[in-house]
Formats: sequence, C-alpha cells, structure tokens
Amino acid sequence: MAIVYVDKKPYQMNPDENLLHGCLSQGLKLPYFCWHPALGSVGACRQCAVKQFKDEHDEHGKIVMSCLTPAKEGTRISIDDPEVAAFRSAIIEGLMLNHPHDCAVCDEGGECHLQDMTVMTGHDYRRYEFDKRTFRNQNLGPLVNHEMNRCIQCYRCVRYYRDYAGGDDLNAFAMRNTVFFGRHEDGALENEFSGNLVEICPTGVFTDKTLKRHYARKWDQQFAPSVCVHCALGCNIDSGERYGTLRRVVNRYNHEVNGYFLCDRGRFGYEFVNSDRRFLYPLLKGQLTSAVQARFHLTESVTNGRVIGIGSPRASLEANFALRNLVGPQCFHSGMADGEAKLVGRMLDILRQGSMRTPTVCEIEDCDAVFILGEDITNVAPRMALAVRQSVRQQPMEIADELKIPLWMDYGVRDAMQNAKGPLYIATPYRTRLDEIATATFRAAPDDLARLGFAVAHALDSSSPSAEDFPLAGEIAHALKAAKKPLVISGTSCASEPMIQAAANVAMAAHAALSFTAPECNTVGATLMGGNSLSAAFQAVQDGQADTVIILENDLYRRAPAAEVDSFLETAAHVIVLDHLSNPTAEKAELVLPAGTFAESDGTLVSSEGRAQRFFQVFVPRNDVSASWRWLKPDHWHNLDDVLGAMATALPQLAPVRYAAPSASFRLAGAKIPRSPHRESGRTAMLVNIDVSEPKPPDDPDSALSFSMEGTPDKPPAALIPFFWSPGWNSIQAVNTYQKEIGGPLRGGHAGVRLFEPAPVNGQCYFNAIPPAFAPREGEWLLVPMFHIFGSDELSLSAPGIAELAAKPFVAMNTTDLPEGAEVDVICAGTTLRLPVRLRPDLPPGVASLPAGVAGITLPIWGKIARTT
Ligand code: SF4
Ligand code: SF4
Ligand code: FES
Repeated sequence: MAIVYVDKKPYQMNPDENLLHGCLSQGLKLPYFCWHPALGSVGACRQCAVKQFKDEHDEHGKIVMSCLTPAKEGTRISIDDPEVAAFRSAIIEGLMLNHPHDCAVCDEGGECHLQDMTVMTGHDYRRYEFDKRTFRNQNLGPLVNHEMNRCIQCYRCVRYYRDYAGGDDLNAFAMRNTVFFGRHEDGALENEFSGNLVEICPTGVFTDKTLKRHYARKWDQQFAPSVCVHCALGCNIDSGERYGTLRRVVNRYNHEVNGYFLCDRGRFGYEFVNSDRRFLYPLLKGQLTSAVQARFHLTESVTNGRVIGIGSPRASLEANFALRNLVGPQCFHSGMADGEAKLVGRMLDILRQGSMRTPTVCEIEDCDAVFILGEDITNVAPRMALAVRQSVRQQPMEIADELKIPLWMDYGVRDAMQNAKGPLYIATPYRTRLDEIATATFRAAPDDLARLGFAVAHALDSSSPSAEDFPLAGEIAHALKAAKKPLVISGTSCASEPMIQAAANVAMAAHAALSFTAPECNTVGATLMGGNSLSAAFQAVQDGQADTVIILENDLYRRAPAAEVDSFLETAAHVIVLDHLSNPTAEKAELVLPAGTFAESDGTLVSSEGRAQRFFQVFVPRNDVSASWRWLKPDHWHNLDDVLGAMATALPQLAPVRYAAPSASFRLAGAKIPRSPHRESGRTAMLVNIDVSEPKPPDDPDSALSFSMEGTPDKPPAALIPFFWSPGWNSIQAVNTYQKEIGGPLRGGHAGVRLFEPAPVNGQCYFNAIPPAFAPREGEWLLVPMFHIFGSDELSLSAPGIAELAAKPFVAMNTTDLPEGAEVDVICAGTTLRLPVRLRPDLPPGVASLPAGVAGITLPIWGKIARTT
C-alpha cells in the first residue's frame, strides 16, 4: 500500500489504482461522474478535480483529475483547497446549465448520483437564465425509459453499452455543443444488458420503465436481499415493494457473482410476481376455498392416500425438502426431466470429484483463454456472457502493462489494445451473440461438437482418447495451453453426455477451470437433494402404487411429452399442485395451493457455481399466499431455521447451506435489520383507510430482517443487505461505502457459501465414450433447442416487458427449399406443431432448431418437417 496525503492527513491507498479510487475507498467525499469502477477512467467530466502538491513545501499546487492520477507513494493532494473546490463547483454549474432541474417529477429523484454530487459540491443556486437546449426523447422499448434533457454528457452510457457490454445500437450523436445519447431511431435496445444503463447513468436519462408503471420513490419502497430466479447463475438482487406490489429489482453487488451488473431477464422478469395469473387463494376442484379447508384436504389426502411428491428445480431447497419430508424419501421425485437429471448428476460428479475448479463469475472475467462447447451462454447464462466479454481483454491488456499504462486508464488501455481480442473459441450448433468476439467458431451437430472436444483434449494430452483430428483442435489446445487462466464452459443445452465428458477431458488436460451452465435457478440444489426420476413417478401411478400426487412449483408439460403427462394426471386420483401462476399442470389439479414467489418467501437456491444463496421475502404475502415449505411443513417446524436444521440432519451434503446467511436470531447492535429505509414517508398513513393508529409491523420469524424502518444503521452482513444507502449517498453508488475497497469484496463478508471445491488431483481418468460422427438422415431433421434470453424462462415470460420482446415460436432451418416464413408441420414425439420457418444458414446440414421450452417435446429429437399445403 502507498501512503497518500490528503489535506495533510496520511491514508493508505492501493498504488495500482488512481487517487479517486483511493479517496473513495477511504470514505473521503470526492464527487465524480464519468469514472466507474467497472469502466475505468476517461477524464470526461472534470468533476473529480483535486489539487496536487509537489511536496510538503509546495503551497501553490496544481489542479489535476483524481481519476487520472495514480495513487503513488508520497502523493500529496487536497480536496478542500478553496481553489479546487471552486473549480468543481464551476464544473457542475456548467454541467447543469441545460439540466431541467425536474427532480420532483424525475424517476431518479431521491436516488440520483447527480443530486448527490451536486450537494457534495455545494452547487445550490442556479444563475443561468437563458433558454435551455432540449431534445426529443426516444422510445427504447418496454424496459428502459429515455429523457435526454437530463443528460450531463458524462459518456458513461455509451462506454458501458458499447465497450463493456458489446452493444452497437446506442451511441453519442454530436453536433457542436449538442450531444445526443440514444439510438439512430426509436426502437427497443438490442443489448441483453441494457437495463444496467439505469444504474450506470448518473442522472435520470435512462430509468426503469417497468418501475414507471407502478412508481414509488426509493424511500417509499421496502427492500429485501434476494437472488434472481431466472437462470442458474444466482445473481444477487434487491427487490423493492410497496402496497403489496413488487415495484422493481435492482442490482445487489456481490463481488464474486454479478458485481455491478444484471441481465435484462433478471432485472425486468420480476413482474411475474404481480401477474393477474397469480393464485391468491386455494382452489378446490376449480372453486375458491379457505386456507383452513385447503390444509384439511391436504392432510386428508396425505393421511389416506398413497402419496408421491414431485419437487422442482425452480423451487427452493427448503420447499423441496419440506415435500420430501412430507411424502418420505422413497416417494420423493426430483421433478426434473429424466435426461436432464442424469446430465446434471454427471456434471456435479465431475465438479465434486474432479480437480477442476468451477469459477465464480468474477473469476471468469479474469480468464485469458476460453473454450465454449455447446452453449449459447448469452441466452442460457447471460451474466456469464458479459464476464466472457471482459475475459477476451485479458491477454491484449498485457500490451498496456508492457507500455506501463495503468489498467484503470480506460482510453489509454483501449488505444494500446486497438480492439485486439484474446482467445475465445465457440463450438455450438448455431451462431451465438458472442461469435462477434470469437477467435474462431465451429458449427456442428451435438455429437460432432463432442468429438471436437475429445480431439482438443487429445491435442493437449495424447493419453486422452480421440477418434478424429479436427484442424481447429490443435489451435484451441495451443491457446488453452499458453494461457495462465484457461477456462472451459459447457452445460446441458445440447442434452449430450458425451459433450459434458469431452469438456471435462479438455479442462483436465489443460488444467483449466470448468464451468457448467444449468437450466434453472435451483437445478443444482435439486440435484444435490436427489430423488427418484420423473418417469418413476409416472410409473408409480400407472402401476397403482400411488394414487395421490403433490406437485411442487412445476409445470410437468415442460418436462415430459404431453401425452405422458396427460395420462399421469388423469390416472392419479388426487393431484395437488403448489405454484405461483396458473399453468397447464395446475389447470388439471384437484387442489391448488397458492405458493409464495421469491418476493413473498424465504429460501435457498444453489447456483451453477455450487453457491448456496438465501433469498428473503420483501413483503408479507397477500390473501392466502404462503411459502411452499410453510404449506408442507410439519407442526414442529416453526421457522426457516427449523427447516434448515432438519435438512442438515437428513442430508449432510446440504448441511453447509445453513451458513448461506445469518440465522433469524442474528442481531446487529441488538436490533434487526430494517427492510424500510429510514426516510420512509407516509408510513403512518399507509393503512389509514383501515385504522388511524399505526399498526404494529408484521413479525418475521424466519429472518433477521424487520418489516419496519427501525433497526441498526450499521452495515449488515453481505447476505442481509436490503438496499445500499449511506449519508450523502442516496443512489445505488452508495455501494462504495459498503466495500472494503472500491470494486472489491463487501465489508460484511461473502454472501452465500460454496458447496463444492475441487478435489485434490487423484489420478483422474479421462472419459472415453466418444460418440460416432453425426449422420444426417434422409427426410428427417435432428431438432435441437434454441435458447432465448426473453422467452426460454418460464416465469419471466409472465412479465409484460419480457413477453413483448420474447421470440415467437418458429422452426429454424438451413434450407434452400423453403422461403423465410413458410408454414411447416414439425412432426416429432407424437406431436405435430405448425410453425413458420426461420432460415438459419448457420445450422449444420440435417439439423433444425426449435425454441427451448416447446411444451411436451424433449430436445434434441429426430423429427420430420413437412410444408403445409
Ligand atoms: S445519458 Fe446519462 S450516462 Fe449517458 S452521457 Fe448522459 S448523463 Fe452520462
Ligand atoms: S444472468 Fe441469470 S441470474 Fe443473472 S440476472 Fe440474468 S437471469 Fe438472473
Ligand atoms: S470522474 Fe474524473 S474526470 Fe470524470
């Protein structure tokens, strides 16, 4: 650490960073706009000026930008010097000349970085009396709102969108002193990470359009720490509620997982919680019934029937365990499609018994050679794709190092790199968004992708088996071998066990990290819990061994062919479903129990990294909605800690899950942690239509969080941070004050607990089940799944903004026989689907593609495609 003197006081600062980073890490108040810890410095706004002195005798000094000046040993600066304070005040006055000062009607008001910095700088009087420059705003689609007049030209938006996230439809359009940040024409932003503009823009230019539909100020929302439920990566979120409506989701910084950014599915998919398709009361034979009656019916069914339970990879560990406990381990089924359960089981065996580390998302950013086998990660594990976009900068950044350009000097580094990209190889059945930054791509059917993987492993280590020599295999092997931190990514998308094994061989041979994607938010947790297969559940009912089925948060029509599910549900005498939203399975239930979503219940999810993370309810559920585990629990489990304790005893492999977050008895300075901000207004009037006296806030027996603004103002443990807010820091950039060092871990420790780490090297053997080469069939197509960030996830599809952007059903084909849009019948698995053709010349011969999640069809599968007459 270097000693830097700020206003004559010594501070320890990281010498590899700049002075702004150092000052903020020390809690000093220094305003800034264009710098961002994830984007680095460009010196565009001049707001972070400080005075720098040559030595202790220098009285005069010179004004420098702290974000552009290294924190070298012995540096002497002043923040308080009157000349530099006046400079910063003049700068913000200039930046604000055309700003509309419309805080009262601005969605950012009260949580605005510009407001915070204006106050910090002391600019409190407007002298400018002339006409302001104005712009026409654009319609940027259903997710992000645009109000350009509030812009202060800091350029963060385009730097984030283009340089960091790889978007190309947002830019700065400039003429003289008029600079416009937007698209070349109205239209939905195309980048999958556009929602981060809401947090990146320091003003109210880009705001959350979904929040606008049910707006509440930050101080009027109640928050809870939570985990995204829309893919398996487990990004950390804070959810905000008012009057029983979930208002929005914001990023909850987790240094090791999502850092500062979420994908748009994760940020905007939350609106399914407010859907009018929610179950709010129990339904018995299609009629509303009371919770008491529903519980009685559930108990009767369990007591008198031969019961089996079907769990779910999108339900919490606690909910799955409560069902397992109710029906007994022998009668519990994991609820995953058979093939998927087997594949994920293999993946976990590899990760738990092998020596390859499954990296955090943060570690993926640091990898310097990546091989992706069979996965379109932008659409399957989006935040991972954003990390891979940063990883391709690692090798070229060595040029900047050699030129002694500090890595935080963003434009200097980018100039030195000249768009150079490090090694990224992508082998998938169809083109992916990341192809544009790939060193090379390879298109083939799943079996041939697996064969490529085996060949790469063989090129790395000749003792590993291979059947064929692919020209690209040697190049990929060379890149992985030369890298300091190589990474292999694969997963379940192609439903190919040989591909998973090939990826493991490559990682073993290259001594690389290995990351597997998984389909749903708790796929890994459900697999660790175990359970019988779904087909065994079907068989049990068919054979008469069971007559009553309890289905937990699971639409079985997404797991198995429709005919099989139909027969299963019709044969079972009693079908009981717990779920949030109506779906084809729930429609066939005798009894439906309204299950709390992530916003109304507490629980634990295990991410594809193997990280168990706790989510907490943000509001007490309305009507009869209750956490699934509460519907299913025995009387002697009183709170979440009781469920976790029982689970740790029954399933030792899940015992560490208890430490994913502090227990309900945790107190900070003797108090609970408030979900409501201390500036919450109107609390006493909220329920005045019911009672003029302020009612006691509801108790929360399950967590150390209170439904109130009372509690300790200290920084809570990382897993319990409901919102980021500090004196003088009202925007989300208050996170600065929660970090040990800016951009580093939180002071409150880590959120979540990793359930598996690499085993010591123990003579691990290579897999050798190499599949035969793919052979196209005459008159048939191999149908593989195509994933979409908007549309492939079941729950987010019920959010209106996501539904608007979701891909409509199609069949993608590489053919010259049919025109784009021609209607065809796709015949497979005993089903005929009429779909329009989407021409995709990137698909290999003999391979066609359907959107993932097509009901009742387990892909890949062979099918016929016939033109309709
Ligand atoms: S739109 Fe926002 S992020 Fe972009 S330049 Fe303007 S103030 Fe900065
Ligand atoms: S990457 Fe996955 S976990 Fe992260 S925000 Fe997106 S959908 Fe949610
Ligand atoms: S933050 Fe330093 S110039 Fe903008």
